[in-house]
Order: sequence, then C-alpha cells, then structure tokens
Amino acid sequence: MRIRLNAPEVVKKLRGEINELAAQGDQALTKNASLAKLRYLQACIDESLRLFTVVSTRLQRMTPPQGLQTGSRWVPGDTTVIASSWILYRGKQQPISKLIDEPEAELDTLSTKDPRCFVRPDEFIPERWTTEPELVLDASVYAPFSVGRTSCAGKQLALMEVRRTVALILHRYDFALAPEQRIEAFEPGLEDHFTLNPPEFKLKCEEFCWAGFGGQGLCVESSVLV
Ligand code: HEM
Repeated sequence: MRIRLNAPEVVKKLRGEINELAAQGDQALTKNASLAKLRYLQACIDESLRLFTVVSTRLQRMTPPQGLQTGSRWVPGDTTVIASSWILYRGKQQPISKLIDEPEAELDTLSTKDPRCFVRPDEFIPERWTTEPELVLDASVYAPFSVGRTSCAGKQLALMEVRRTVALILHRYDFALAPEQRIEAFEPGLEDHFTLNPPEFKLKCEEFCWAGFGGQGLCVESSVLV
C-alpha cells in the first residue's frame, strides 16, 4: 500500500496481471499455484522486501568457542552477537563507527540500498527482477529471509500469504491517502518490534464492484477510511 501511494503506474500494471487471473474464475485468486506464476506480483514483493527489511533487527549468532576476529575487533568465544539488519541492509558505505562509537573503525558494507548493488537503489522498480535485470548489479546482498542453516523456515508460507493478500486487496480495492494523511509520516513512523511495524496510516479506500460486469468493468461501490 505504501508503494501504491507513490507508484500508481506499478499498481496499474500489477492490477492488470491480477485481474487477468481473476477473470479465469471465482477461485483463481486463492490458488497458490496460479498466484505463484504471476511474475510481476512476485517482482513487486521482491522489490518491497528489498526496500523494507521485515525482520529489522536481532538476528543473533554465537561466536565459536575459540572466539572470532572481525575487522579490528576481537569477540570472545560463546558470545551472542546481534546485528541490525535494518542498518546493515540500508547503509550506504555505512561507517560502523557510528554504531559502536569507535571513530577509527570504518566498515564499508554493501547493502540493498547501495548503488554498487542496485541501479537507482532508492527507487521501487519491480522490473529489475523481470525485464530489466541490468538494474541488479550484485544480488548477493539481498536476503530478506536470511541464508544458511537458520534461514526463515516459513519463507514459502509467507510468500504464499503475501501473494494472496496483495492479489485479493488489489482486485477488490483501490486506495489513496486520506485527506489529512502525509506520506512523509510513513518511514519515520516505522517501529522495530522484532518485525517491522508500520505506523497507523489513514487511507481512503474504494471498493470495486465486479458483479454484473462479467469481470470486464468496474464501478466504485463504496468509500471508507481505514
Ligand atoms: C515476509 C515474511 C517473513 C520474512 C521476511 C521472514 C524473515 C526471516 C528472517 C530474516 C529470519 C532469521 C533467519 C536468521 O536468523 O538467519 C527468519 C527466521 C524464521 N522464520 Fe521467518 N520470515 C517471514 C515469515 C515467516 C513465517 C510466516 C513463518 C512461519 C509460519 C516464519 C518462520 C520462521 C522461523 C521458524 C524462523 C527461525 C529459523 C531458525 O532459527 O532455524 N517466518 N525469518
């Protein structure tokens, strides 16, 4: 929804793909096998996860019993180390000194918001995952579900639910900012509750009415604030 408010052309394209599937029958939008084939929908999800790190912090690991040298810092063995993925993934040449108050230590970390990894990194461009792969320079920094032995056990379930939710909402509703709501309030209002919680955000929703149009047309049936 945050993206819809800034990128109406993306939503138009996405809604087109979703509505085409919906036209195949009542149950089409609830079948994961069908939803998983929607390339643009998947690209929009991938691009959203690139820009907004859902699990924003407290990914923890334990150092090996013999300890670990990381850059200029020695961490003793069997120590729990926690990194903020929000900061790591969003930093542009992130000086780690800001984080640990050690002015001489600088770490130039690549991230999902780094122009060395993604062309126009701050922009929401789903096409980089489909027709414009040249906009991805180094995808190795992109791991919203993490990697390795403790990577997300629920990845496929999560993607299934997100695909279905987005498809059902976009097929049924259109939305815009409520008159008193400012888009600039979104990002500063995000809160870390282990997962990233969005702020209360007032939208004006309009419900499409498909009945009687044979799936071909639409009308605005109602208008509510959420
Ligand atoms: C968009 C939604 C989701 C995202 C972005 C996400 C991301 C993550 C991340 C980054 C981790 C940490 C991995 C690590 O420490 O390296 C994780 C762990 C985990 N996630 Fe998810 N997750 C999502 C949804 C879900 C759902 C729906 C479930 C289950 C129904 C789930 C179950 C788990 C479990 C069990 C772990 C711990 C794995 C372990 O430590 O072995 N996740 N997830």
